Amino acid sequence: MSLETIILAAGKGTRMRSKLPKVLHKVGGKFMIQHVIDAARNAGSEREVVVIGSGAELVRELIPNVEFVLQEEQLGTGHAVLSAKKSFEQSKGTVLILCGDTPLLTGTLLEKLFAAHKDSNCAATILTAEMPNATGYGRVIRETDGTFRKIVEEKDATELEKKIREVNAGVYCFDVQKLFGVLEKINNDNAQGEYYLPDALPILMAEGEKVGAFSAEYADETLGINSRIQLAAVDRIFRMKKNRSLMNAGVTIVDPNTTFIDSEVQIGQDTVIHPNTYIEGNTIIGEDCKIGPNIRFTDMKVGNKVTAQFSYCHEAEICDGVTLGPYVHIRPGTTIGANVKIGNFVEVKNSDIGEGSKLPHLQYIGDTDMGSGVNVGCGSVTCNYDGKQKFRTKIGDNAFIGCNTNLVAPVNVEEGAYIAAGSTITKDVPKNNLAVARARQTNIEVWNDKRK
Ligand code: UD1
Ligand code: CA
Repeated sequence: MSLETIILAAGKGTRMRSKLPKVLHKVGGKFMIQHVIDAARNAGSEREVVVIGSGAELVRELIPNVEFVLQEEQLGTGHAVLSAKKSFEQSKGTVLILCGDTPLLTGTLLEKLFAAHKDSNCAATILTAEMPNATGYGRVIRETDGTFRKIVEEKDATELEKKIREVNAGVYCFDVQKLFGVLEKINNDNAQGEYYLPDALPILMAEGEKVGAFSAEYADETLGINSRIQLAAVDRIFRMKKNRSLMNAGVTIVDPNTTFIDSEVQIGQDTVIHPNTYIEGNTIIGEDCKIGPNIRFTDMKVGNKVTAQFSYCHEAEICDGVTLGPYVHIRPGTTIGANVKIGNFVEVKNSDIGEGSKLPHLQYIGDTDMGSGVNVGCGSVTCNYDGKQKFRTKIGDNAFIGCNTNLVAPVNVEEGAYIAAGSTITKDVPKNNLAVARARQTNIEVWNDKRK
């Protein structure tokens, strides 16, 4: 039986007090709604229709490979699902309904719900969870024999109902045709004047259909985000889960409380992550590395046996055996070759640094193709920008760049060339030549005597 999914993401997210649509706030470095889409796919969903409204254009732009339907006015979750009616005219079987603001949902949990739904002959199965703090959620009202009766929203609940800890997770399996058959019968006669999706359930039952309620084993997986405080709490849970899964896979995380690793990051065995470290985006790190303390890597490809501390590196590649930091900035478009040493206060941008080269202290290297075995002295910089255009610098294998050299690009320092300290190099330096480009020193005798 095929599975299709509707994801509700049109709401204003009023409680977030944000210019950004709620579902585009990030958890574990990934859009909240993308987590929900991924969970649906992991549960076997073959098609995802996202209901958008508030901030629709931005959601359309940033979320790939799903279908969108527009809910012009946000009149409630029931009305939101109804806006997707046309997209399901041909559908049979089960539709999974999810909210875009519950990013901790897992494929495994949704799979279990779907299995429970299929095994019953229910027209709908709702996912419920026991929340230690149920404030804000719809409460599950059951008959005395435990069968499901209805959902009461927080704002419509009596004091007694508010004491119920079992909540509606906002996740449902519906027989798709039966769902669209009753949606129009929902009214908005409630505290918020909205058309509530959960109200479809008692209507189905009144028509003689069965409705099941399936409880989630781990309530955390169903946590919804309505406010920034809940966003922080959910992000924290997500981070801890990611850290645990990496530790289970053989990565040492010295202090999980101060280690922030995004959802898509991969890290190899026996790598050690030291505190205050952020590993973001699509970063991949190899085995046996020592990363941190105080590292921020964003969209990095990092080889094996790399050591890095107190640095920021983004959209670049670091090959095996590199030592980096403290206080290094590696900028986009850079490849740091194997066994390179990059020391303190060094910036490298859009450059290739060949194997075994050394940038030990205080360098700026931009738009440079550097060979292997090059030694760059303290304080040397490339002058890659003339105020209008960027030019490249070439440095051949085993060249030696003396301290405080300016390499004015475009310029080519050939293999084995040697540049005297303090030079400003504006012309190419041929292979194995020594270039001296500074004023000659003059020593004036007895000068200090005269001055007195
Ligand atoms: C909803 C449920 C509540 C449940 C909770 C679980 C209803 C009426 N209430 O409450 O029982 O416990 O989720 O997290 O369904 N949306 C639209 N269009 C609208 C209104 C909402 O697309 O007109 C979307 C929102 O963008 C959001 C989702 O539906 O992604 C849920 O809406 P929200 O306002 O967050 O509902 P809750 O109050 O959390
Ligand atoms: Ca919500």
